[in-house]
Amino acid sequence: MVTPVTPYGQEKGSKKQQIAQMFNAIATKYDFFNHFFTLGIDIYWRKVAIQHLQPFQPKNILDVATGTGDFAIAAVALKPERIIGVDISEGMLSISRKKIQKANLQNVIEVQYADSENLPFAENTFDAITVGFGVRNFENLELGLSELFRVLKKNGVLVILEPSFPTRFPWKQLFQLYFQKILPFIASLFSPDKFAYQYLPNSVAAFPSGKDFLAICKKIGFINEQWKPLTLGTCALYLLQK
Ligand SMILES: C[S@@+](CC[C@H](N)C(=O)[O-])C[C@H]1O[C@@H](n2cnc3c(N)ncnc32)[C@H](O)[C@@H]1O
Repeated sequence: MVTPVTPYGQEKGSKKQQIAQMFNAIATKYDFFNHFFTLGIDIYWRKVAIQHLQPFQPKNILDVATGTGDFAIAAVALKPERIIGVDISEGMLSISRKKIQKANLQNVIEVQYADSENLPFAENTFDAITVGFGVRNFENLELGLSELFRVLKKNGVLVILEPSFPTRFPWKQLFQLYFQKILPFIASLFSPDKFAYQYLPNSVAAFPSGKDFLAICKKIGFINEQWKPLTLGTCALYLLQK
């Protein structure tokens, strides 16, 4: 059995508990660090992902691992009737609620505490599902993906964003240096949780990406699977249908 990568080590509780604890600890700094370490490119990645959903004109959207709500807010561009965001970190959800209120989007977006591995929705509920930088954190990846499959309508579409490592010289070597050494070092100086930004490169390195990830999704039942590297391969966009 593969040992899951966790923020604080195996003996400190389940991966799910540790993930919630870590995101609760960094919630107030999450947006700042996210935009700072990606130079704001994360905003562009979500925008590209949302553009891929445009042809499907989804009315009901679920944003899983919604965190501080940026993907859910970006999905408003699709003019859906309803967007529901779910997360297991109350700290992250509390920031998302404030942002939704500030943007006056509470009539479209609603967020709630829920676990991607046990979603409180009936099957075939959503036209589209978005997951931004979340699936890598699932305790049981296949169970989480099966739940997404279950609540997605037939012909519905799932878009996933995940950080990834470039494969070509010199971006691979430069990115490894940045992501595995420079980023955790800078973060350790300012982050309220010094483990969080070491967990990030470790978990990305251990996560199946590209075709390996698509093979897992296909096993769950997803079809029309495709993926696209973004920004020199530092992010992967996955598009799948039920
Ligand atoms: C890196 S943040 C991503 C936030 C947001 N989607 C974005 O685009 O910035 C990952 C989020 O996944 C959430 N998460 C991890 N495991 C989860 C699970 N099993 N169910 C729901 N949310 C989960 C974490 O609490 C955290 O808020």
